[in-house]
Amino acid sequence: MNVLGINGSPRKDGNTAILIRTIFKELNEQGIDTELIQFSDVTIKGCVACGGCMIHQSKRCVIKNDDFNECFAKMVSADGIILGSAVYSADVTSQTKALIDRASMVLAANKGLFKHKVGAAVVAARRGGAMSAVDTLHHFLHSKEMFLVGSTYWNMVYGREIGEVEQDKEGIANMKNIGQNMAWILKRIHS
Ligand SMILES: Cc1cc2nc3c(=O)[nH]c(=O)nc-3n(C[C@H](O)[C@H](O)[C@H](O)COP(=O)(O)O)c2cc1C
Repeated sequence: MNVLGINGSPRKDGNTAILIRTIFKELNEQGIDTELIQFSDVTIKGCVACGGCMIHQSKRCVIKNDDFNECFAKMVSADGIILGSAVYSADVTSQTKALIDRASMVLAANKGLFKHKVGAAVVAARRGGAMSAVDTLHHFLHSKEMFLVGSTYWNMVYGREIGEVEQDKEGIANMKNIGQNMAWILKRIHS
């Protein structure tokens, strides 16, 4: 079993990456493989509404000069997806939204590619807008026939400078719990 984590923040190895790696630790301890994609390292352009994915139905976006298709192919082959974002202007980052828009179109043209995958949404925020960002991520995952993993509270952790999220003890405990819950459901789905 494998879980793909997507750090939708343009800040490499920042707070969102810390949250995803906290979940990864729990998954790895239960024998589940993990891989992290950081949007600091890739380019995901926005959807241009060309409709090419609907015409070709090739499980790919027709935009070729960026990293979307490689990222999307990894999402398709993963058993679980952790979609993480920093909170920007009370929602997800523009890079994360670009992924959501293009993946949604390719999935509309090629139904069922994410069916029965397990998904979790996590966000890092300084102060406000975390709930809106979690909602945006959940709307995407939930509308693609995925099973969402929750915790004992909302999937958000607070911090501004890199590493500050580790001081949010309740938030980090939530992340660990998400990892344990994700491992639990993955094992049952794939037993
Ligand atoms: C352009 C920009 C917009 C931001 N907007 C918000 C916001 O609306 N609410 C908030 O709580 N934090 C906001 N922040 C702070 C980040 O969400 C916060 O620093 C977070 O920990 C960054 O995570 P990262 O290290 O993964 O990038 C913003 C930061 C930037 C750079």
